Amino acid sequence: MKISLHTRFAAWITALLTVLVGAVLFVIEKREVGTIFEETKSRTLLIAEYLASRNLRALISWDTAFMQETIDEQIEKRLLYVIIYDRSGKPLAANASIQTYPEIYNTSRLPADVAEGEFELRTHTLRIGDKDQNVLEVELPIFAPDVATKWGSIKIGHSLEDMDREVRRTRRVLILIGLGGCLVGLLASTLLARRVTRPLKKLVAGTVQISKGDFSQRIDLASRDELGELARSFNEMTAQLMQTRERMEAANRRLVQAEKLASIGRLAATIAHEIRNPLTSVKLNIQKVQESERLDPVEKEHIALSREGIGQIEKFIKELLSFTRASELMRDLFSLETILDEALKLLREPFQEKRIVLQKTVAKNLPAVSVDGDKMRQVFLNVLRNASESVEEGGEIRIVLSRGREEGRPRDQARIGDDGCGIPDREWENIFEPFFTTKAAGFGLGLANARKIVEQHGGVIKVVKKRGRGSCFLISLPGEEGT
Ligand SMILES: Nc1ncnc2c1ncn2[C@@H]1O[C@H](COP(=O)(O)OP(=O)(O)OP(=O)(O)O)[C@@H](O)[C@H]1O
Ligand SMILES: [Mg+2]
Repeated sequence: MKISLHTRFAAWITALLTVLVGAVLFVIEKREVGTIFEETKSRTLLIAEYLASRNLRALISWDTAFMQETIDEQIEKRLLYVIIYDRSGKPLAANASIQTYPEIYNTSRLPADVAEGEFELRTHTLRIGDKDQNVLEVELPIFAPDVATKWGSIKIGHSLEDMDREVRRTRRVLILIGLGGCLVGLLASTLLARRVTRPLKKLVAGTVQISKGDFSQRIDLASRDELGELARSFNEMTAQLMQTRERMEAANRRLVQAEKLASIGRLAATIAHEIRNPLTSVKLNIQKVQESERLDPVEKEHIALSREGIGQIEKFIKELLSFTRASELMRDLFSLETILDEALKLLREPFQEKRIVLQKTVAKNLPAVSVDGDKMRQVFLNVLRNASESVEEGGEIRIVLSRGREEGRPRDQARIGDDGCGIPDREWENIFEPFFTTKAAGFGLGLANARKIVEQHGGVIKVVKKRGRGSCFLISLPGEEGT
C-alpha cells in the first residue's frame, strides 16, 4: 500500500502531539485528584476534631445521652457515621444505621498507646442499600486534661461521593481539553505537512512532466530553503535540457536539409544538363518560327504561350541551380535600405498591378552591413514576392529596417509584414522546406533559398507573431560591432 509523504508526516506529528498532550494531562490529573483528596481529608479531620472537643466533657462524665444527641444532630448525607469509643475501644454512642455494620461499629482501630495528635485514616467501601459508597474514615483519640493516655476516641465516616463527582468532572474537563488539543494538533500537523510536502509535490509533478518530454516545465518555488534551491537547480537543468534539445533539433534539421540539398543538387545538375541544351535549341527554333511572316494571329498566340512555358522552365532550372550551388559569398559593405530598394524596383510591376500600399520605416543612422548584395537582394525579392502574392487588391506591405541587440551583440533587422492570407502556426517551419508550396504555379524554392542565403550570412529568417491578419517575416543579420 502506498502511503503518501503528506499522510505519514501528519500522522507522526499527530501521534507525537497526542503522546505529549496525554502525558501533560496525566500529570495534571494526578495533581488535581491529589489536591481534591487533600481538601476532603482536611475537612473530615476538622469535623472529627470539632466533634471530639464537643464530646470531651460528656465522655469524661459518661453522659452517653448527650453524645447520642450530638451524634444524631450531626449525621447528614455526607457524614455517614459517627462512633464514640471508650478508652478500651468499646462503642459508647453511634448513629443507629452504622450499628448494623459490626466490623466498623464494634472495634476502635486505634492502638492503646496512641499519642495526642496522631490519628487513623483509611478509605473503604460501604454497601448502603443496593449501592457501594466510598468512605473516608478518620479516627481521632480523645485526651482528658492532664491524662497521658487516651480517654476514648471518635471515629467518623465521610462519604466520598462529592469528591468522586468532583474528580469525575475534572477528568471530563481534562479529556475535553485533551481531545481539543489533539484536534488542533491534527489540524496544525495537516497544515504543516501540506506546507512541507506541497513543494515536494510540485517537484514530483515537474519531474513527471520532464519524463514525458516536456522541458518547458518550470517549478514556481520562491522559498529560500533547500527545497527552493532544489527547485532552482531543477529549473536550470530543464532550461539546459531544453536548450540542448533545441540545438539538437536545429542540428538535425540542418543535417536533413544538407542531405536533401545534396540529393537535390545531384538531381538538379542532371536535369540542367539533360534539359538545358535541347531547351535552348527549342527556344531558338520557336523564336525563328515566331519571326515568320506567314503565321496568323492565333498561331502567333500559341507560339507566345510556348515561349512563356519555356521561360518558366528556364526560371525553375535557374532557381534550382542557385539553391543547390554552394557558391562563396562576395561580401562588401552595403546599406540594407539600398538592397531593399533594388528588390522593390524589380517588383514594381506586380505591386502596381495589385495597387499594393507600401509602408517603409527605416531607423535613423543605420550602419552599413557586410553582405553579398546580390544574394541579399534575392532574399528580399523572394520574401516580398510572397507578400505581394498573399495580399488582396489594395493590400498593405510594411517594411521596418532597424538595428537591435541580441545576447549583447548588434543585429541588423528587417521586418516584412503583410495583411494577406497569413500562415497557420504549424506551418511556420515547413514553409522554409524546399518544394513546400501551396501555390498552383509555385516551386516552393523561394523561402528555402532565402533561408539558405541568410544562414550563410550567419543570420536568421523566421516567421514572427503579428497583430491583426497576415504574416510577418523577420530577417536578422549579425551587425558590425562599433559601426
Ligand atoms: N507572406 C506570405 N503569406 C502567406 N503565405 C506565405 C507567405 N510567404 C510564404 N507563404 C507560404 O509559404 C509557401 C512557400 O513559399 P516559397 O516562397 O518557398 O514558395 P512559393 O512561393 O510557393 O513558390 P516559389 O518557389 O515560386 O517562391 C508558399 O506556398 C505559401 O503557402
Ligand atoms: Mg515564393
